[in-house]
Amino acid sequence: MSEVHIYPVDSAIANSAHINDDQYREMYQQSTINPQGFWRQHGQIIDWITPYTKVKNTSFDSGHVSIKWFEDGELNVSANCIDRHLADRGDQAAIIWEGDDPNDDATLTYNDLYQQVCQFANALKSQGVRKGDVVCLYMPMVAEAAVAMLACTRIGAVHTIVFGGFSPEALAGRIIDSNAKVVITADEGVRGGRAVPLKQNVDDALANPLVTSIEKVVVFKRTGGNVEWHSERDVWWHQITAVASNHCVPEPMNAEDPLFILYTSGSTGKPKGVLHTTGGYLVYATMTFKYVFDYQPGEVYWCTADVGWITGHSYLVYGPLANGATTVLFEGVPNYPSTSRMSEVVDKHQVNILYTAPTAIRALMAKGDDAIKGTKRSSLRIMGSVGEPINPEAWEWYHRTIGNSRCPIVDTWWQTETGGILISPLPGATALKPGSATRPFFGVQPALVDNVGNILADATDGNLVITDSWPGQMRTLWGDHERFEQTYFSTFPGMYFSGDGARRDEDGYYWITGRVDDVLNISGHRMGTAEIESALVAFDKIAEAAIVGVPHAIKGQAIYAYITLNDGEYPSAELHKQVKDWVRKEIGSIATPDFLHWTDSLPKTRSGKIMRRILRKIATGDTSSLGDTSTLADPSVVDKLIAEKQQLL
Ligand code: PRX
Repeated sequence: MSEVHIYPVDSAIANSAHINDDQYREMYQQSTINPQGFWRQHGQIIDWITPYTKVKNTSFDSGHVSIKWFEDGELNVSANCIDRHLADRGDQAAIIWEGDDPNDDATLTYNDLYQQVCQFANALKSQGVRKGDVVCLYMPMVAEAAVAMLACTRIGAVHTIVFGGFSPEALAGRIIDSNAKVVITADEGVRGGRAVPLKQNVDDALANPLVTSIEKVVVFKRTGGNVEWHSERDVWWHQITAVASNHCVPEPMNAEDPLFILYTSGSTGKPKGVLHTTGGYLVYATMTFKYVFDYQPGEVYWCTADVGWITGHSYLVYGPLANGATTVLFEGVPNYPSTSRMSEVVDKHQVNILYTAPTAIRALMAKGDDAIKGTKRSSLRIMGSVGEPINPEAWEWYHRTIGNSRCPIVDTWWQTETGGILISPLPGATALKPGSATRPFFGVQPALVDNVGNILADATDGNLVITDSWPGQMRTLWGDHERFEQTYFSTFPGMYFSGDGARRDEDGYYWITGRVDDVLNISGHRMGTAEIESALVAFDKIAEAAIVGVPHAIKGQAIYAYITLNDGEYPSAELHKQVKDWVRKEIGSIATPDFLHWTDSLPKTRSGKIMRRILRKIATGDTSSLGDTSTLADPSVVDKLIAEKQQLL
């Protein structure tokens, strides 16, 4: 390990921040010694319609995993994100929308947001949406995406957002699993100067005969592009809202009522519907946003994530708005129309806090100073990173170039399942080490375990588990509690297993080393190897497929596919293209393999299990230490694969 450069806490920031180091240590200790008392107090960070008397009722015991927080309290998420700010900051910007085209922008104050959310909530009711119904959002990055989320929460509907980059097939799968009643979409999205045919994709998804639950499709007009219209089913956003009242009483929801479902990839099977509930999630998103970004009233905050991912839920919409923040919602991509776009947006809107992903940072870093050309970025105060491990070189570049060597970086580790940030520096409290997510947030008890679940002490490497519940934790997998227990609580009984590996150093800092299961992280997007493999084998010429991840300078990981064809089929340039197009159609562009390695046999054990460990090493060219190959049914396969790999280069 090369020498670690330590950045001490800036004393000016420590003095003005919500939390300094002494306070962190004291509050962290309280939060773990007395979680009931700690969260009884901090649950008050949001407004409750009916105050809770119970705080924590959780069990990680095998066969009885049950997670309940604030279970007798009632609240409404949209009232917390909007209504409670109207008296003090009704005219403050809630959402600044920045279009894909640098000349397009718009500002919604909290008063505007109130009106729009109430109107759209009433419009949803007019389309038959009731408390407990599931509403699927397949939206571009327009302010209306946040309006739609908040409108669902206002009436107690459960949203499930599907990233606009997913294909019609992937959308259909999520609609079927969630049993959604309504889809909200747009005619087209716009990203990087290109139109995305969202409504067309919805039409294609709904043409799948297995999709039977959808009654209405609400279409927001973004571009005015041509769309097919099914008048018995499709309604225009602007038409149903024009006739809707702009007052809507927020529905009192129990703390444990479902808030949203968000699908994410696992190491096996189909994407999993992660369920978050209302009270604990909002408390946790609100509190982590306030402390991790040290948000101060009046500041402008920009998170570059799409609403289709958990970061877009917790730190683009719910966390910021619950804190009365101004949140920037950006339709485009960080390098369009030019490499300096991200920096230009920072200057244009005087962004104080910027939260983005290592893959974006590395893509800009590759262009050197072009990423900051003509910009000052002097408004920036705090910067964040999320989605994958950030390599120290990218961290240093982000700090020096984008942040003018002035801004602390919060490297935030968390997951769709965790609802909010679990391990991260706090700007006024934590000395930084580039590449380390540092220390746990209040109430989070991480531990490292060996492969049989023994808790490891001191500075060491291990599997990262969390030993007790926190309020933002997912509650179950939609419709499959058994799979929930199996996935997260059976590997190491009594503990939540993250699927990540980590190292803890002598200061107790955590360094996330990446997934230890068969999940890939491509540009910060999670992809299951099994999911891509099953898409591949569904192609009629493919007999078998195995996917592994290989390091990639910008994307973090790239997708490497080993493919065996059916007898009588042979690789060709045309087939190469067809296979890639097929995966794009089945899942979406983010799942398209970067490398196709045609072969006629894969390394298998005598019982027929594919030895991925060997495939990973061959794909990365690390063939000097293949480990034990004696259990292979046919060890000669390995040499053949190595030879084929060489031809591939
Ligand atoms: O491997 C970890 C990585 O992203 C995974 C979670 O992916 P997802 O559920 O899509 O959520 C991403 C946004 C929260 C984790 O299991 N990951 C996320 N943040 C970091 C990270 N790896 C290292 N450092 C991080 N800061």
